Amino acid sequence: MNTLEHCVCSSSLWRYISQRQLLPWVLSDACLGDHVLEIGAGYGAATVHLRERVPRVTSLEYDHNSTSKLKANHNGHSGGVLRGDASHLPFADETFSSAIAILVLHHLKSRKMQDLAFGEVLRVLRPGGTFLAFEINDSWIQHLGHFKSTFTPLSPGSAFARLTIAGFSRVSVDFRRGGFRLHALRAKPEPASTSPEPERSPQNAVAAGV
Ligand SMILES: C[S@@+](CC[C@H](N)C(=O)[O-])C[C@H]1O[C@@H](n2cnc3c(N)ncnc32)[C@H](O)[C@@H]1O
Repeated sequence: MNTLEHCVCSSSLWRYISQRQLLPWVLSDACLGDHVLEIGAGYGAATVHLRERVPRVTSLEYDHNSTSKLKANHNGHSGGVLRGDASHLPFADETFSSAIAILVLHHLKSRKMQDLAFGEVLRVLRPGGTFLAFEINDSWIQHLGHFKSTFTPLSPGSAFARLTIAGFSRVSVDFRRGGFRLHALRAKPEPASTSPEPERSPQNAVAAGV
């Protein structure tokens, strides 16, 4: 991130906007369950809000300094804070009931890293788990704001296709000024069919050579 982004993400204004406007919209109809993974937690603008809603929040952050600050501010809470990379998540399969990434996906260095991250999120979600993300639109002002930073824009249309290819189901994209929300599910496996074998009709028997 560049200096401007560090200033914005650590500001009380961003925390206020995040907690009062953005998160209520992003989380509105989502089922977070009992253990949420917060990816790219930054300075923790969303962390407090998530801790109020969910019994256990694990916050992952790539940047050393932000991770240290987060750890200092969130010591003693269940879940914890750790340093790690969204495209190689340091968690066992099926650990979390939900995962959330606010303004993080465009910070991954390439489309390949984003696709790896989608696969990793799917892996660490329990069946039935929810993935939520908020992303900004690809615009010249965002390219300017990310000068000397990483900006790998994610288009809403490609996000739908790529999440589906990664294995998510019920992917939805909702828009608001300046950005969009992604909502996707790791489907539960279909229960094994218990229906009895269909009876052979005379035609089927003939076709089967019986
Ligand atoms: C724009 S900030 C958003 C921070 C926070 N989600 C918020 O809403 O305030 C993006 C964050 O993603 C983090 N990040 C970048 N690449 C990452 C990666 N590969 N894995 C995890 N976090 C990453 C950055 O260090 C930064 O803290």
